[in-house]
Amino acid sequence: MRVLFVTSECYPLVKTGGLADVSAALPQALRALGVDVRVLLPGYPAVLCGLEGKRMVRSLTGIPGVGRGALVAGVLPGGVPAYAIESPALYGRAGNPYLTASGADWADNHVRFAALGWVAAEIARTGADDTQWQPDLIHGNDWQSGLMPAYVAFMGSRRPATVMTIHNIAYQGQFSPALLSTVHLPPHSYHMHGVEYYGGIGFLKAGLYYADRLTTVSPTYAREIQSAEHGCGFEGLLSTRTDDLTGILNGVDYGIWNPALDGHLVANYDHTSVEIKAHNKAALQVEFGLDVNPAAPLFAMVSRLNWHKGADLLAEALPALFARGGQVVLLGTGDAGLEGALSALGAAHPRSAGVHIGYDEAQAHRIQAGADVLLVPSRAEPCGLTQLYAMRYGTLPLVRRTGGLEDTVIDATPAALADGCATGFAFDEATPTALGWAIRRAMDLYRAPDRWRAMQQRAMTRDFGWAGSAREYLQLYQGLAR
Ligand code: ADP
Ligand code: GLC
Repeated sequence: MRVLFVTSECYPLVKTGGLADVSAALPQALRALGVDVRVLLPGYPAVLCGLEGKRMVRSLTGIPGVGRGALVAGVLPGGVPAYAIESPALYGRAGNPYLTASGADWADNHVRFAALGWVAAEIARTGADDTQWQPDLIHGNDWQSGLMPAYVAFMGSRRPATVMTIHNIAYQGQFSPALLSTVHLPPHSYHMHGVEYYGGIGFLKAGLYYADRLTTVSPTYAREIQSAEHGCGFEGLLSTRTDDLTGILNGVDYGIWNPALDGHLVANYDHTSVEIKAHNKAALQVEFGLDVNPAAPLFAMVSRLNWHKGADLLAEALPALFARGGQVVLLGTGDAGLEGALSALGAAHPRSAGVHIGYDEAQAHRIQAGADVLLVPSRAEPCGLTQLYAMRYGTLPLVRRTGGLEDTVIDATPAALADGCATGFAFDEATPTALGWAIRRAMDLYRAPDRWRAMQQRAMTRDFGWAGSAREYLQLYQGLAR
């Protein structure tokens, strides 16, 4: 089966969050199952530089916004064949794929990502290269690929099947209706039963309306987004498509996130040598200028800093954590107000708090290895990957019970501790008080080293690899391909 996997980011070439990790690992796992999956990416500078054996395979005409461009082919660092759209006018700029240096959306994002969906459909229509490679199925991800199923729907009967995966329903790609012809959509598509969404062109709306099947990245989030609380306006549409919507949990690439092999750590370890983790903790305390105290429970967060991620809850809960002798290390970027509040807390508690406002892949690994507890207090979390990485590193996740966090972390209740199945801590209410109580529970348990060690070993040996989830995608593909 031939599958074109369309995505706007892919680790290690371009990454702003978990979509990049998924876009690197899932196609590899599918190829291991025998699927001829190839990735289609915008030709950002980092993609054009990073594709191995890059060669031009065909010219493109009629690309929304710019007309001419080229399709190049090569191999991603993980070994998966990929295509990239070469168009300096659309993608020839460094930095964040979606935002300018000052944090505003690129003004031409509508054509940059319409082009992504349009080229995917064009590959299905006329073939990618001299071998005439045409997909049986196109798998799009998030709003940036959202117009792909619409373009494919207008191809007529000889068309591939389409799947859309929602990684985060809060990001919707909403643009002015005046752009309809610019993005090559027919006038009749501007309809409630089409691409129209709250008086604009909705890229994610288009994807959710036209795709043959919908998936999201955890079973709980699949249920949540059919409700007003989490649907962000799509609950109505999704409730009408409930039989077409599946939640498939993300996995972990243990080739990259594995404390036994991780080259970023000062000392490698696995579940049989958890005591070695202490070296990474001491190194992390030094790196962030904290007291080098093995007995102080070290909490951490590696995250985009925004309201959805609950970074404000954390800021409010931290003073109590410090008062009890805990430490915290934070790595993230995001809303300026939250960056400022967290930096101020760091400055006020220099021996207990280390705050790095920035993006640093290697440091994210060192934090996973050095911390005792990883905080994920999200108000909404479609899947979440950092809690999965944390478990493999023997860093117990402390999460709010929502989305994929609920599906992957087993709270250390008395019953779960007695059964020996607990792998972390969970709380319900999105309030600083509820988060504070969970932090307190973690601190109490931290003072019982035998129980803590048993939980670490359990978390480290849980398997969240991609093999099972990739098989679920394959089944879904097989059910669709015609
Ligand atoms: P989301 O995709 O919503 O941001 P995930 O938990 O799925 O959340 O994925 C986040 C990914 O981004 C993880 O690989 C995490 O390590 C990484 N990450 C987030 N913030 C940073 C940062 N400031 N520096 C380095 N890596 C980060
Ligand atoms: C999104 C979600 C996150 C998920 C990631 C990969 O960014 O916010 O929960 O893990 O996509 O699917």
